[in-house]
Amino acid sequence: MPVSSAPGKVYLFGEHAVVYGEPAIPCAIDRRARVRVRRREDDRTRITAPDLGLQGLTVEYGDGLESDVELEPPATAIGQLFGYVDMALDVARSIAEVPTHGFDVRIESDLPLGGGLGSSAAVTVATIDAATRALDVPLSPPEVADHGYNTEYTVQDGNASRADTFCSAIGGAVRVEGDDCRSVASAPLSFAVGFDGGAGDTAALVAGVRDLKETYDFAAATVSAIGGLVRAGQMALAEGDRAELGRLMNVNHGLLHALGVSAGSLDQMVWAARSAGANGAKLTGAGGGGCIVTLGAADAVTTALQACQSCEEAFRTSLDTDGIRAEGSL
Ligand code: PMV
Repeated sequence: MPVSSAPGKVYLFGEHAVVYGEPAIPCAIDRRARVRVRRREDDRTRITAPDLGLQGLTVEYGDGLESDVELEPPATAIGQLFGYVDMALDVARSIAEVPTHGFDVRIESDLPLGGGLGSSAAVTVATIDAATRALDVPLSPPEVADHGYNTEYTVQDGNASRADTFCSAIGGAVRVEGDDCRSVASAPLSFAVGFDGGAGDTAALVAGVRDLKETYDFAAATVSAIGGLVRAGQMALAEGDRAELGRLMNVNHGLLHALGVSAGSLDQMVWAARSAGANGAKLTGAGGGGCIVTLGAADAVTTALQACQSCEEAFRTSLDTDGIRAEGSL
């Protein structure tokens, strides 16, 4: 019974702009989603996620997950997650040419849902990996990344880049520009993450930036400015220049703010971390709520985040060089 895990990620630079073909540099982190997939004898599918929501969640269905499945308590992010898993299972069925095969799926995750740490990408690629192994049609990590991207692209109505799924499948620091995805060398990096307890709606936030960009030249110029900043950031990463990386992260946060995707809670945590001496601090992921990331995780920074009114949880994490991994059990 295969168990696969895949890491979450933080964006050093480039979220949102990456959707329009600019480069981005996400980094896998040492917090993961784990997925166990068991083949069933019938055509039903049962998905259990005991650590999502207060009491945990189970949904069982036959013949495809209908869009009107009712979840109790209702939660968009949780509903969307089951959408990713359902489609990831379909990918495995179609590769193995067993269109109606049923599965029992168990998901455990260290990543807050919709918080900008790539929880949906981690669950998606881990599910594709475990389900294809369960059906004896195993894929390489780049192949899983590719199918993971198609899954996110479909579930998010076209508002997705390859960044999250590639980073989660391959691990380490990666550079994504359009369809060109590659690993980039990096010294070990440590981060502090501040989480406001909330979640942004990725599809709505991406659509908002698209609107702004189509309406105002300044917004289109801001998206290209982020691309320029990422190119400078890639050089700083290659040179291990943490001061420059931090400075560019701060600028990146400002540009994301200008595109309307920050939030008061995120700005508060960013400033608390900077005041405590963080090299750099920015929102990570789609924004609108969720997480910020700082470069370096000095005690003073995590303490300042914990004391920040809008911060529900702060933790240290570091760059994880492993992508998808086969695990012994769950
Ligand atoms: O919030 P996350 O972890 O889903 O990241 C979204 C990143 C975006 O650039 C806004 C969208 C994308 O698919 O690249």
